[in-house]
Amino acid sequence: MDKKNKLRVLSGIQPSGNLHIGNYFGMMERMINYQTKNELFCFIADYHALTSSPSAQVLSSNTFNAACDFLALGLDPDKTTFWIQSDVPEVTELAWILSSQTGVGLMDRSTTYKDKITKGIKPNMGLFSYPILMAADILLFDSELVPVGKDQKQHIEIARDIAIKFNNKFGDTFIIPNPDIEKKTQLVPGIDGQKMSKSYNNTIPIFGSEKIIRKKIMSIITDTADINEPKAKDTPLFKLYCLFASLKERESLSEKYDGKGLRYGDVKIELFDKVMDYFSIFRDKRKMLFSKPDDVFDILSIGAKKAKLVASEILERVRIASGLNYRL
Ligand code: ADP
Ligand code: TRP
Repeated sequence: MDKKNKLRVLSGIQPSGNLHIGNYFGMMERMINYQTKNELFCFIADYHALTSSPSAQVLSSNTFNAACDFLALGLDPDKTTFWIQSDVPEVTELAWILSSQTGVGLMDRSTTYKDKITKGIKPNMGLFSYPILMAADILLFDSELVPVGKDQKQHIEIARDIAIKFNNKFGDTFIIPNPDIEKKTQLVPGIDGQKMSKSYNNTIPIFGSEKIIRKKIMSIITDTADINEPKAKDTPLFKLYCLFASLKERESLSEKYDGKGLRYGDVKIELFDKVMDYFSIFRDKRKMLFSKPDDVFDILSIGAKKAKLVASEILERVRIASGLNYRL
């Protein structure tokens, strides 16, 4: 295995609906920051999104939207290898090879699978083996660091287990990846106080209309503490505000929470202005990308070619290691 001098960072996101500020602070912003100093690989995981059985039209439009969102938020295709997962189908071959080396028991322990079943989702085989495809995404690119939110930690651990087991059986083949989870942003709360998630309908969408964003922020849950009582800070409004505030602003809000006379409504209005402000240049860029879909397709085709080059080489290494090489 070649030793590269820049750390290789990889992550992906499912095109399963409107991106929200939990996705942004939990994963996307950090990903985008990595592109300046590291070797960044980033993809839209449309094979993964298939596991929740969307219609063809919904999946394809969500995939395009997610690509535009990432680019609008600052992903630079000249610095980063950026592609759509299904444009590099080599990953499904690796997933198959890995499936054959993975005990069913390891999949049975997947908490995201169990959570989905508990929510009444009828599971398909793709959903069951979702972590294997994710391991393939990671291992197919010799990824060293995988930035994600806390909910994805177990998936990275599964990828590590699979890689270690494979290396033990077939010799050094895979780089063992590490999760990259930022304590401060690993679990952005939703407007109801649970983890912000598309599945809980509690998100603040990054590119929602002004009206929707205002409505969502104004409905962040708060307690019924009297205006002159000190307020609790381990709460969604305080935490969300802090994501957008400078240190000075955070200190000032903290003092207000400790003192008298704070109105939650005022904090919400301030937060709304901050959110609109923060994403405003990205909105303009996104509009521009949507008006030139062919440019986006070109970016994605170039990205897929770059990704394929790396993937084919590593897949060949795996094929040889595992005996899919009768000609040698
Ligand atoms: P959702 O739960 O809305 O379906 P995804 O599972 O598509 O979100 O997550 C995409 C990425 O964003 C993952 O890396 C995930 O860990 C991160 N992420 C999602 N929600 C949050 C959150 N509330 N806080 C921090 N990171 C999050
Ligand atoms: N499972 C991830 C999510 O729901 C998306 C994903 C697919 C991913 N493959 C990956 C993330 C590989 C990191 C690395 O957010």
